[in-house]
Amino acid sequence: MAAAFETQNAELALAMEAVVGRSGVITERADMVPYLEDQRGLLESDARLVVRPATVEEVAEVVRICASRDVPIVPQGGNTGLVGGSVPDGSGEQVVLSLSRMNRVRSIDPLNFTLVVEAGCVLTQVQNAADEAGLLFPLSLASEGSCQIGGNLSTNAGGTAVLRYGNARELVLGLEVVLASGEIWNGLRTLRKDNTGYDLKQLFLGTEGTLGIITAAALKLFPKPKEQCTALVAIPNAAVAADLLGWLRDAHGDAVTTYEYMQRPCLDMVFTHIPGAREPLDSAYEHYLLVEIGAPGAASDMGARFEETLAGAFEKGWILDASVAATEAQREDFWRLRENITEATKIAGASIKHDVSVALTDVARFIERGSEALAQVMPNGKLIVFGHLGDGNLHFNLNQPDDMEAKAFLGRSVEISKVVHDIVVDLNGSFSAEHGIGRIKRKDMAAYKSSVELELMRTLKRTLDPKGLLNPEHVLP
Ligand code: FAD
Ligand code: MLT
Ligand code: ZN
Repeated sequence: MAAAFETQNAELALAMEAVVGRSGVITERADMVPYLEDQRGLLESDARLVVRPATVEEVAEVVRICASRDVPIVPQGGNTGLVGGSVPDGSGEQVVLSLSRMNRVRSIDPLNFTLVVEAGCVLTQVQNAADEAGLLFPLSLASEGSCQIGGNLSTNAGGTAVLRYGNARELVLGLEVVLASGEIWNGLRTLRKDNTGYDLKQLFLGTEGTLGIITAAALKLFPKPKEQCTALVAIPNAAVAADLLGWLRDAHGDAVTTYEYMQRPCLDMVFTHIPGAREPLDSAYEHYLLVEIGAPGAASDMGARFEETLAGAFEKGWILDASVAATEAQREDFWRLRENITEATKIAGASIKHDVSVALTDVARFIERGSEALAQVMPNGKLIVFGHLGDGNLHFNLNQPDDMEAKAFLGRSVEISKVVHDIVVDLNGSFSAEHGIGRIKRKDMAAYKSSVELELMRTLKRTLDPKGLLNPEHVLP
C-alpha cells in the first residue's frame, strides 16, 4: 500500500516537473517545511509535494493534473494567515500550490488609477509599484513584507487603512482565476463600472482558495497623501472612542485613515520583547489610540487643524494626553508599537486569538463583557486587546498564564472561544471579522451560521469545485 502511494507520488512529481520544471517541484520533507508550518504553530501538516508554477498556464495545467488524479490542492501565498488556511492537513495526501513565482507586475495605468499584478507579488511590492507611479495602493498590514496580494484577496484582508479605503475586496476591479476544472477565467477588467451580469470576482474574494485559484488581479489606485499627521493618543476608556472618532471625522472627513486601539498590556508586551520600543508618552495609560490623517492635496494647515481638533477633544475629556509625531522617526516609533503586538505576543507564549467585530457603538460594551467573562474562566490569562477600532474590529486575544503549560492552555481553546464568541453574537457581531475561517474556525461556522447560509455556501462549493479538491476541509464545516 505504502509502496503504491510512493509510486503514485513519484509519478505525480514527474508529471508536475514536465509542466513547471524540476526546480518548481519540492518533494523532500526537509525542503517542504516552510510551506507546512502554519504561522501560529498550532497544526499538524504534511504534503505529497509543493509545486511552484510561474505562469497562469502552468497553474492551470497543475490543477488539471491534480483533478485527473483526485489530488487535493492547498493554494498558498505568503503563508502568513492566522487561521491555518494556507497549510495542508496531516494526511500527506494534499499538494501545496505556491504562487510565489507568479510575482510580476503586469501593467500600470496611472491615468486610469489601475495596476495589474500577479497573485504572488508580495504586498510591499504592490505598494512600491504604485508609489513609483506617484500613486497609492492603500492596503496595509503588519505582515505586508511577506504576505502576497493573492493571499490578501483570498482572505479579503483588512489592516490599518480600512476606515478610509475599505477591505481588500473593495480595492479590486478584476481577477484572473484558475478554476477547479483547470480552466482559466480572464476577468482582468480595469473598469470602474461594469454591470454585465453577476459580479463573478466576488466568488473568489474572501473565499480562501476554496472556489478557485487567483493568479492575477486588477487593482484600484488612489492619489498619494501629500501630507500626513500621526498621533499617539491616551484616552480614559474605550467608551469615548466612538465619540472621538465622530469628532475627528467631523473635522477632517475621509482624511482619517487609521484609528487603531491598544490596551496597556499590549504595549508592555512590545516593550518586553521588541528591541527599540519605548514608552510613547510622558506617563503610562491604560487605553491608547494610534490616529493617522492624510490629505492628497497640499493642505499646509492640516497639522495645525489636527492639533486644534485634538485640543477640542481634550477639553471634552475624551483625551488624557497626546503626542503628534514631529518627525518620520517618531511616526515610525508609534507604528512600531502597533505593528509588533502580534510578534511580541507570539514570543511571549501561546495565544488563543479572537478576531471579532461589533458595531462601533457596542465596542466598549463588548470589551467590558468579554473581559469580565474571561477573568472568570481564566483569572491568570493575559488579555491582549487591540485592533482596528475604527472598523469595530478587535483582536481580543488571551495569552497563556505564567503558571500554565502551553498545551494545557491551548486545550481550553474551544471553551474560551465559545465564551467570547457567544458575547459577540449576542451583540449581533461577527466571530471572524478579518483573518478568515481556514481550518481553525470551521467549528464556529457550524455553531453560528444559519443552515440556510451554510447550504448556500455548500451549493457554491459543489458547483465550482464538484470534486471538492480545492482546500478541502477549510472554511465550510
Ligand atoms: P496565505 O496565508 O498563504 O493564505 C491565506 C488563505 O488564502 C489560505 O486559505 C490560502 O489557501 C488562500 N490563498 C492564498 N493565496 C491564494 C491564491 N492566490 N488564490 C486562492 N487562494 C489563495 N490579516 C488582516 O486581514 N489584517 C491584518 O491587520 C493582519 N495583520 C497581520 C499581522 C501579522 C504579524 C501576521 C502574521 C498576520 C496578519 N494578518 C492580518 C493575517 C494575514 O497576513 C492575512 O490574512 C494575509 O492576507 C494572508 O496573505 P498570505 O499571502 O500570507 O496568504
Ligand atoms: C493585526 O491587526 O495586527 C493582526 O490582524 C492581529 C492578530 O495577530 O491577531
Ligand atoms: Zn488585524
